[in-house]
Amino acid sequence: MKRVITYGTFDVLHYGHVNLLKRAKALGDYLIVCLSSDEFNAIKNKKSYYTYEQRKMILEACRYVDLVIPENNWEQKVDDVKNYHADIFVMGDDWEGKFDFLKEHCEVIYLPRTPDVSSTQTKDYLAKKA
Ligand code: CTP
Repeated sequence: MKRVITYGTFDVLHYGHVNLLKRAKALGDYLIVCLSSDEFNAIKNKKSYYTYEQRKMILEACRYVDLVIPENNWEQKVDDVKNYHADIFVMGDDWEGKFDFLKEHCEVIYLPRTPDVSSTQTKDYLAKKA
């Protein structure tokens, strides 16, 4: 069984996220999403619209996602790959090259990002409408 792992905030889940999750799952049999905790978002100066628990609930309802675990810091990736026996690490290509240090532990694949959609763009648009 091939296990795939990916990371992100996945706030206000959109079709770009689903497209990423669908392609990530298709690379293997079991998809683990490591989801930014609210505390980790604060460290990154990000604030999500939905809380961690709400984002987790939405991801768990997605047919491509098998397991959601928290991302609490930048350093945990090597341990996650080892502990969850991930064969493939996947990210969108906005992160191209950034996680190549994981190549000694698993395959690293950057998938093309879906154009013209992001959580920030959606939130900015809705804020202007309000
Ligand atoms: N992603 C993607 N295509 C998009 C948006 C995101 O493939 N249009 C991918 C990212 O490359 C990442 C994952 O989805 O692998 C989670 O990205 P995240 O940063 O949570 O989503 P964004 O919409 O980019 O959020 P933000 O606007 O806050 O940066």
